Amino acid sequence: MERTPWPEVWREGRELFTPNLEPGVRVYGEPLRLVQGVEYRRWDPWRSKLAALLLQGAPAELLQRPGAALYVGGAHGTTVSHLSDLWPETPIFVVEKSPTAFASLLALARRRRNLLPLLADAQLPERYRADVGEVDFLYQDVAQRDQVGIFRENADACLAGSGRGLLMLKVRSVTQRKSAAAIARESRAGLAAAGFGVEEERPLAPFAREHLALVLRR
Ligand SMILES: C[S@@+](CC[C@H](N)C(=O)[O-])C[C@H]1O[C@@H](n2cnc3c(N)ncnc32)[C@H](O)[C@@H]1O
Repeated sequence: MERTPWPEVWREGRELFTPNLEPGVRVYGEPLRLVQGVEYRRWDPWRSKLAALLLQGAPAELLQRPGAALYVGGAHGTTVSHLSDLWPETPIFVVEKSPTAFASLLALARRRRNLLPLLADAQLPERYRADVGEVDFLYQDVAQRDQVGIFRENADACLAGSGRGLLMLKVRSVTQRKSAAAIARESRAGLAAAGFGVEEERPLAPFAREHLALVLRR
């Protein structure tokens, strides 16, 4: 196992790993590895866009431990379970609107105490902003038409002035009628109008087609 630029993320060749917060337990069928008394979970870039982004190259500061984080679009917890491994002391609020996916998140959160799931629509952050308070890191992966608007509203509701963000933009969910380049340009403009600069922009192919990862800072 070798260190990577991202704290607590390890690698062996092209494979990434995080230390398992819950030894002996898999979240999505991932292989476990025991190395010198520490158990690691393999982080699958075909299942997690964040792992894909790390393999494509991401700034080291991206995964610096925040005081609190908001994760929008938790689904069944694949990616957020790895953030839970990386930041055991950080409260991570996880918004998900599908009751089926939320049930998986609840089960995960019973075992991983740093995960705080919220069954809610991310288009209505005013319904959970009082529960979440202020966070330093906002992650969004929702594949909705108005992904930039949802990100902006969640940032306005919960992200600290100096906070950082990561938007996994599914280009084709925005519209089928414009080119990917035009959608990316308009998304960057919408984020700039809300005071966000794009620190990095990376396509996630081949792991997630038609997705762009945007690393953002106010
Ligand atoms: C692509 S999946 C997320 C995968 C997850 N981020 C991961 O890597 O493990 C998108 C999720 O966003 C949720 N979602 C979509 N629109 C939403 C909204 N308006 N509010 C909350 N969740 C939403 C969907 O139900 C789905 O579970």
